[in-house]
Amino acid sequence: MSSKMEGAIKIAVLGAAGQLGKSLLSQSVAGVELSGFDRAQIDICDKEQLEKLLTGKDYTHVINCAAFTQVDLAENQEDKAEAINHKAVRHLAQLCKKNHIVLVHISTDFVFDGKSNIPYVETDKPKPLGVYGNTKWKGEMSIQSALEKYYIFRTSWLYSVYGHNFVKTILQLAESQTKLEVVDDQIGSPTHAENFAAVILKSIQNQIPFGVYHYSDDAAISWYDFAKEILNQKQILLPIYPIPSAQRPTAAIRPAYSVLNTKKIRDQLQLKSKPWQKSLHSMLIKL
Ligand SMILES: NC(=O)c1ccc[n+]([C@@H]2O[C@H](COP(=O)([O-])OP(=O)(O)OC[C@H]3O[C@@H](n4cnc5c(N)ncnc54)[C@H](OP(=O)(O)O)[C@@H]3O)[C@@H](O)[C@H]2O)c1
Repeated sequence: MSSKMEGAIKIAVLGAAGQLGKSLLSQSVAGVELSGFDRAQIDICDKEQLEKLLTGKDYTHVINCAAFTQVDLAENQEDKAEAINHKAVRHLAQLCKKNHIVLVHISTDFVFDGKSNIPYVETDKPKPLGVYGNTKWKGEMSIQSALEKYYIFRTSWLYSVYGHNFVKTILQLAESQTKLEVVDDQIGSPTHAENFAAVILKSIQNQIPFGVYHYSDDAAISWYDFAKEILNQKQILLPIYPIPSAQRPTAAIRPAYSVLNTKKIRDQLQLKSKPWQKSLHSMLIKL
């Protein structure tokens, strides 16, 4: 007999101090108990710690928000990115299987090469351009080969009141610079982590079919468009200019187009479309 209480949803959130982890833990959903563990409490690369956390407990789900997320740094720290984004995830999947726990794992638009000009669907073949995307894709594959009861949610361009993100960077730059130059040849979908957290928890609650899902807010814009709207909403009068990525070289090559097709999750949860500007507004008023 399973020790897990019928009907009760008890979730362990790993990587709880990150943007998404904090956004999840700030949600309150009836019938769902969330316990967060930051890196100091549970290092997902530490097999013993993970095993102790998940063995013989009554968690029904683990949400893995822990990741090596510094895209440029990953190019020079491949072993570290591989350990966190792939090897630890493979072990986590095995532990979830052994303990009959549903694994909810977060992945990224960077698994795609960005050569498409229409939004990526879940069945499109990943072809990562850099170390970060590659290690995240390997993490996904290790879950799919170990487990049946999993959700992999790919998302893009996360921002929130927590941690480091593009919105906060633009606001900081606006305080110190006399003009801004922002790339306009990378197209994607900024996603308020609060919206994404609500979608993840609703998916668990509604017991949607297991598998891979794409979720982002409803937008297909450039970083320049996004920055312009941030300044606009904060009523900051600063000159802002579009530039090509070639003018701002980075260690990692980024996909030129990484818009995700989100129809699958939107149909499952009957999600209504909300303008991305409104989501940005709801974050900015909390800053
Ligand atoms: N941010 C984005 O734009 C974006 C876009 C697409 C997908 N995603 C995915 O969304 C997920 C959440 O991203 P996020 O923006 O919330 O990232 P984040 O703010 O960087 O948070 C990641 C968290 O993972 C923790 N962590 C790193 N290594 C760990 C380990 N070995 N054990 C335990 N915790 C560890 C980090 O702790 P430390 O701070 O101590 O390192 C950090 O608190 C990730 O899977 C990411 O790949 C993010």
